[in-house]
Amino acid sequence: MGVTDTSEQASDRAQELRRFDESKLGVKGLLDSGLTSLPSFFIHPPETLSDLKPARPTPGSIPTVDLSGCDSARRPSVVKEVGRAARELGFFQVVNHGVPQEVLDRTVAAVKAFHEQPAEAKARIYRRNSETGVSFLSNVDLFLSKAAGWRDTLQVRLGPELADVEEIPEVCRNEVLEWNQQVQRLGGLLLGLLSEGLGLSPGKLQELTCLDARMMVGHYYPPCPQPNLTVGLTSHADPGVITVLLQDQVGGLQVKHGDEWVDVTPVPGALVINIGDILQIMSNDEYKSVDHRVLANPSQEPRVSIAVFCNPGNRENQFGPFPELVSSDKPAAFRQFTLNEYLRRFFTKELDGKSLINYFRA
Ligand code: OGA
Ligand code: NI
Repeated sequence: MGVTDTSEQASDRAQELRRFDESKLGVKGLLDSGLTSLPSFFIHPPETLSDLKPARPTPGSIPTVDLSGCDSARRPSVVKEVGRAARELGFFQVVNHGVPQEVLDRTVAAVKAFHEQPAEAKARIYRRNSETGVSFLSNVDLFLSKAAGWRDTLQVRLGPELADVEEIPEVCRNEVLEWNQQVQRLGGLLLGLLSEGLGLSPGKLQELTCLDARMMVGHYYPPCPQPNLTVGLTSHADPGVITVLLQDQVGGLQVKHGDEWVDVTPVPGALVINIGDILQIMSNDEYKSVDHRVLANPSQEPRVSIAVFCNPGNRENQFGPFPELVSSDKPAAFRQFTLNEYLRRFFTKELDGKSLINYFRA
């Protein structure tokens, strides 16, 4: 194949991507139009595809932490369990977290209902840059990645300034606002446990505004006609402090542990919590932000998941390893940086594994 062919292919691909984005249909809209095989821009390279085996069943490998009594007698043992999970796997599930089952159910149902509206309703807010803090889009890194994933997303900024409430689609408005309240409460509790797990005072992470900038993404993973040729969400690490994830019972989320992919099997009533790059940095490499991905959905029913990324609200502050965690035995593993610098790098690259955190290594 000559050089001209390659550049022609590249421009065909760019055109296909543009056409898909301009259609504002998302993956669900494409599927509803009757498509039975994947457009080529969804097809991932052989290195990715050969590694897509569903993980071996490894029950119990992602720990489930019972939060009941964590404000009283059980607190020391909960701190220990949370700390251990954050150090070893970077992922854990929580139960008895205080969010009623009805709230979990109606949040998932509302996000599902948003994605299952007629295409025109969603197209009205299809955009990649949003002044109002609300957008519907397919693949946040569509124009940066080597291949696209089989999913659509509703993004709503929850803080430091809540999105324009009128812009939050009515089918899920109340539920999104309610979810924001729940995540604020639970996020505060989790940051307390995680601070203590590092030997710091319980208020430390929250004092540094670590819960203030919250972004919600309501993902919809439609059934995929050729799940062996693509992924739902490319392997990546979350950039922020922590992520609180509500998933339905379909499954497909996997976490990298050593050289193996481990399923995060849905546990009814549980929420999935993971450590982001900023917390790994602040903890001076004690806590781990790990790569994770979502397989393309092979089932007949759609998968819905709702992630809230918690980031520091103050973008001008310097961030780096806590001085309390730096010593001559454990020198600082990362340099200091501002969140502005950090996020600029995140949004100009594709979602590919750990390249962001490594950029800030000392
Ligand atoms: C994310 C993410 C997992 C999921 O949005 O960063 O990892 O199950 N989502 O959708
Ligand atoms: Ni993620």
